[in-house]
Parts: sequence; structure tokens; C-alpha cells
Amino acid sequence: NIHSFKASDLEIDLAQTQKPKPDLTGLAFGTVFTDHMLVVEWNSQVGWQRPRIQPFGNLSIHPACSALHYAVQLFEGMKAYRGADNRVRLFRPELNMNRMRKSAHRACLPGFDRAELLECIKKLVEVDEEWVPHSDSASLYIRPTFLGTEPSLGVKKPSQALLYVILSPVGSYFSTGAKPVSLWADSKYIRSWKGGTGDCKMGGNYGASIFAQYEAVDYGCQQVLWLYGDDHQITEVGTMNLFLYWTNEKGEEELATPPLDGIILPGITRQSILELAQKWREFKVCERYLTMSDLRHGLKENRVKEMFGSGTACVVSPVGRVLYQGENLQIPCQQENSLASRLMKELTDIQYGRTLSEWSLLV
Ligand code: COI
Repeated sequence: NIHSFKASDLEIDLAQTQKPKPDLTGLAFGTVFTDHMLVVEWNSQVGWQRPRIQPFGNLSIHPACSALHYAVQLFEGMKAYRGADNRVRLFRPELNMNRMRKSAHRACLPGFDRAELLECIKKLVEVDEEWVPHSDSASLYIRPTFLGTEPSLGVKKPSQALLYVILSPVGSYFSTGAKPVSLWADSKYIRSWKGGTGDCKMGGNYGASIFAQYEAVDYGCQQVLWLYGDDHQITEVGTMNLFLYWTNEKGEEELATPPLDGIILPGITRQSILELAQKWREFKVCERYLTMSDLRHGLKENRVKEMFGSGTACVVSPVGRVLYQGENLQIPCQQENSLASRLMKELTDIQYGRTLSEWSLLV
């Protein structure tokens, strides 16, 4: 299997004992894992091994492993949702598979057949299906992970790799719930740059952001508003894409998000919000550059309606305040009838199967 593993080759080794399911209220994100995991090994001599579903457990990794030394690594984030009809659905998982292939290419990790990986993930979710919460505010977070496991210190393409998928039941991402978040906007730290890896879901992007995240907290804010360039372009917020809903400088009502020019993570929630809003035809929907100066002018002239982050973990997260150059910019975020809450409802209605959609894939 030089080019890909196959779901039809899956070996399933079921766990002898099952862990108790946790109470998700107040549980921190990604701290509890299910009974099983999917593991697929690759090496440059024989290609892909057979995929395996096995009991969840520690990995045994060579201490020189290239994922550990040189961050030859990537991951994905997706969810399985249980509907009121008790059926389990994935949300646009093909898009995660596409993005994962792109990240793998950038990381010099081997290719694989996206449909085969998706089929394996469906099987894994099926095996652990009782772990998909019986709730419309919780879900099963799916974390595909791909590591270079080259057992040597050479900075080169790995000759060994490990693809695995773990599952974690999750409630709401933010412990504060869907309350508006406060952001620290400073050009001191840069999340991503032209030619870099910010448009790939690689662990290094996130690991390197933690230091800035704590500085934001020191400034009394919850998340970082990532800026780019001398003109302080607004790019992302924390681990999320960013949207501005406003009346633009030409007087047009507009929903705007930065374009995928290489420094923006191509979020699946981001894409879905753009596609939904385009379909409504109620206002202009635009991928465009936005600067702090645009935001400040917009606020001064009362043209800003809302600002929010989007991601798989939280879906939509309104922004209430931006601390920038010592000034607290208050962002309007009316709870009732907001665009953020409308998008949240439309997306979760699809995810939980209350609205039938081609974006849903039954497990
Ligand atoms: C998301 O917002 O979905 C993320 O990417 C969060 C994840 C890195 C924990």
C-alpha cells in the first residue's frame, strides 16, 4: 500500500474494559478520551500498513522522533454530533480530509486517500458511538493527528510516520460559555506570515501562540487578536478565524473576513459562514483585508455591528472588546437577533440534524 491504506483492511481490536462516560458540564476541553483510537503506520520501504482500531493508550515513540524535535506534525479538528433522531453526523468532513492532505504535503508527510481515511474515522466513531453525547450542546471532538516518526536527528523528510485519530467528548469550548470575549491586539507577536505555515493545521502554529495568549491574559484580555504587517491587518483571533459585520467605508452592509492569502487558516466554519451568508443575499459577503485603522474608524462612526470568531470548537464566538494601543475599543454585541447567534443557530441546526443538509454526513 504505497499510496494509501484502505478502510476495508481495518483490523479491530476492541478494548476489554470500558471507561465510565464523564459528566460534561464544567469539563475542560479535550481532557477525556474514548475507549478506542485509530492508528495507521507508514514507512518509506513498504508504504502504509493496515489501519487498526485499538484500545486507547499511550504511544511508544523513539526519542529522536522528528515530530518531537522538528515539529514534523499536523492535526485536524472535527466533530460528531448526535441528533434528536439519535443518529450521529459529521459536518463537512471531506473538507477536513482535504485540508489534512494539504498540511501533510507541506510537512513532507506521505499522502493518503482522503475517502479511505474518512471511512476509517466513521468506523472509529461507530465503535465508540456511545461516547457521542446525548445532548444538543455537546459533541464528540475528533482529533486526527499525523506525526513524522523518523527515528533520527537529520532534518529531512521522515522515512516513518504515524497517523492516528483520537476522540474526546466535549461540552462548550469556553468555560465562560458564549459570552463575548475580550482581545489583546498587539503587533509584538505574529501568528503567521507569508511563506510560513499559518494556512496549515500544524501544531507549531498553536504551540508558538501560547506565550502571546498568556500576555493577553496579563493585559486583562481573554484572547489574542493576531495582527499582520505595518498596517496592522486583523487576521485571526486566538485559534479562530475572524469576521467583521459592519457598514463598510462605501456605506455597504458587509460581512467581511480576511482572504486566504497564505497566512489564514482555511477554517471549515469560516467557509460555511461565507457560503450561508452568500446564499441569504441580504448583505455583501466579502473576503478582504481589514486593518485596525478600518476597525477604529468604523467604531468611531458607529458603523460596526458585530465582530466574532469562528471555529470548530466554539462555532461562533462574539467579540466584546479589543485592547489596542492602550485604548479599549468596545465592540457592539447585542445578544438578541445578532448575526453571530443567527449563524450559530443555522450551523448547529445542520450539525445536529434539525435542518437537513448536504453538509451532514451520517455515520
Ligand atoms: C477551533 O477553533 O476549532 C480550533 O482550532 C481549536 C483547537 C486548536 C483546539
